[in-house]
Amino acid sequence: MRARTKRLAAPLSAEDQTAQSMPDASPVKWHLAHTTWFFETFVLARDPTYRPVDPTYGFLFNSYYESLGPRQARPARGLLTRPSADAVFAYREQVDEAMERVLGATGAEGEVADLVSLGLAHEEQHQELILTDVLHLLAQNPLQPAYDPGLAITAKADIASPEPLSFISFQGGLVEIGVSANAGAQFHFDNEGPRHQVYLRPFRLADRLTTNQEWLEFMEAGGYDRAEFWLSEGWTLARSEGWRAPLYWRATGEGWETFSLAGTAPIEPCAPVTHVSYYEADAYARWRGLRLATEAEWEHAAANLPVAGNFADEGPLRPQPSRGAGVRQLFGDCWEWTASSYSPYPGFMPAQGAVGEYNGKFMINQMVLRGGSCATPPNHVSASYRNFFHPHQRWQFSGVRLASDGSARASGTAIVDAGFRQDVMDGLSAPQKSVPSKYFYDAAGSALFEAICELEVYYPTRVETALLRAVAPDLANAMPSGGALIEFGSGSSVKTRILLEAATALRAYAPVDISASAVQPAADAIARDFPHLLVAPVVGDFTRRLVLPPSLGSLRKTAFFPGSTIGNFPPAAAAEFMARVRSLVGEGGAFIVGVDMVKDEKVLVAAYDDPEGVTRDFNLNLLRRINRELGGEFDLSAFAHRAIFNTEESRIEMHIVSLRDQVVFVGSRSFAFARGETIHTENSYKYTPERFQALAEKAGWRMVRRWVAPQPSFAVFLLSA
Ligand SMILES: C[S@@+](CC[C@H](N)C(=O)[O-])C[C@H]1O[C@@H](n2cnc3c(N)ncnc32)[C@H](O)[C@@H]1O
Repeated sequence: MRARTKRLAAPLSAEDQTAQSMPDASPVKWHLAHTTWFFETFVLARDPTYRPVDPTYGFLFNSYYESLGPRQARPARGLLTRPSADAVFAYREQVDEAMERVLGATGAEGEVADLVSLGLAHEEQHQELILTDVLHLLAQNPLQPAYDPGLAITAKADIASPEPLSFISFQGGLVEIGVSANAGAQFHFDNEGPRHQVYLRPFRLADRLTTNQEWLEFMEAGGYDRAEFWLSEGWTLARSEGWRAPLYWRATGEGWETFSLAGTAPIEPCAPVTHVSYYEADAYARWRGLRLATEAEWEHAAANLPVAGNFADEGPLRPQPSRGAGVRQLFGDCWEWTASSYSPYPGFMPAQGAVGEYNGKFMINQMVLRGGSCATPPNHVSASYRNFFHPHQRWQFSGVRLASDGSARASGTAIVDAGFRQDVMDGLSAPQKSVPSKYFYDAAGSALFEAICELEVYYPTRVETALLRAVAPDLANAMPSGGALIEFGSGSSVKTRILLEAATALRAYAPVDISASAVQPAADAIARDFPHLLVAPVVGDFTRRLVLPPSLGSLRKTAFFPGSTIGNFPPAAAAEFMARVRSLVGEGGAFIVGVDMVKDEKVLVAAYDDPEGVTRDFNLNLLRRINRELGGEFDLSAFAHRAIFNTEESRIEMHIVSLRDQVVFVGSRSFAFARGETIHTENSYKYTPERFQALAEKAGWRMVRRWVAPQPSFAVFLLSA
């Protein structure tokens, strides 16, 4: 076991072993010496005739034992250029020889045996720290050197998409966790006991770890920008530290890459996400409408499983994609953040003397992690093993397993944006059922919208495109050279090209859309076709607080909102939105808005109820999405599409009409529909030029110019802040 520590240091130079990258991480040389000091202090020094190898080492290599006197400050361990790495290796050999003499003479029995076991388990913990600390150190080096380049070729992920996430249900009840004092020969740390009863409500546990691809979805949904999912402390920290992705991730032109002990490589979409803090793990779970498991739930689920997985030695020292069925990856790959704070089990008593400082005094302000990681030595952990770190720490191999409360009707295979679930539940519970139109745009919905734009009867796209072409030179003149264009609801960014071709002096383009499947390829295509532009896509909801990419910095801004998407807001909300856009672009900024005009009712209704049924599919796709993502049970043949013009409100309304009396389950909730009852899914307000101008002015904009196409009428407004 001691030889393994030396092997871990073998790929490292003396310089690698001496440097310290941050206060939390220690130099490898210090780990080598400290684990040796531990045996010298707690075992060899029990003999009053023992002479320490070097009396100064007690000060240099004591970690945190107050009862053993003062010590080198932790953040200054990297300043210990002496003793040399060679001297530390010699120290290890001398102590090993002395230990062999002690163990050879008396054998390990009673208290000495316990201390030797503790010393060995302690050294295994430092073996993992050697790997995580050296990873952090090498990551600071601009040359990005690999700890072991040979690792890069081992176990390359060979599956292209993650296995779908499923949830395993556990009944709960009164269960026991922890290790009893008389558990037998197997070593365990004092914090794992005493064994005790815990009451668990029914719960569900994800069958595998969260993957990088799923984490990307969180990032693309603006997870790092949405305070509603974050604990307050985590939010403040994530903002002040500028967290946009897990530690070691770096954005490149082609996607994300990460740094591991194998060096830099593109992230593996199906591999478990790692190097996330508790705060991030918790925010991610909330965004999915789920939570992290408690440590009691985790231990209950793991208790009877073999302790096998991707640990150090056997594995490539990075988390690997899961394969198979049933609950997997509980052991190895990543430590799993639990929702439990690190506190003593009922009846916990720290040991007498200095070793009593080992665990007990850290039982505050930390969270428990379970299961071991790809850097944990094999045979080190068990189902009852309690690791703990502060919620902000990210440099360990820490990952995420989702959990949820169990329920009678939990189907549990989908993972869900928490906002969608809430809005659907609220909307279907109201007297006039409704669902916000922004939920039309999953991947299928975005594709269907593109198909609508091709329809003969859907005049808005055709007329607005022609109008934009005609007035593009005027619009280009209004956009400051070197400025940025920010587009809301950009979809496929097709109309944008008209502006970008005319305004050649623009420096940046930021498309903002709720649909990741639309915005990402559109942004890639614009970046390819307009290579001079900085393209900064934002997957986000423009009905919430708007946050622009920092790369737009102080560029002068023009906002663009085509497609009459502004008509989806009721007029008061439209004015509010326009006021927010005004403060976003700032003084001197401009706003180009495309707005559909009131016209003959027949023309209007035909555009939203086409003979080919594409708008119908678009509308009913919302039910398909609810079925898929929220466990809904809508029978699509029992619902119809309806578009009407509400003259009083001057708006097209889209509804989904129930064709019979029926009760529909969504997850565990049921909703009754009377025959003819509707779900109101979209409004599309129609304006006169004067009415829209008045609305814009109410929002603080000044109208520079407006162009109104003749029948079927559509207008483009140029506004100035
Ligand atoms: C009517 S389409 C217009 C698309 C395109 N701008 C055009 O003119 O053809 C509305 C677009 O806005 C996006 N969208 C709808 N609600 C949104 C919201 N709340 N936040 C961000 N994007 C949204 C949709 O994904 C879709 O791409």
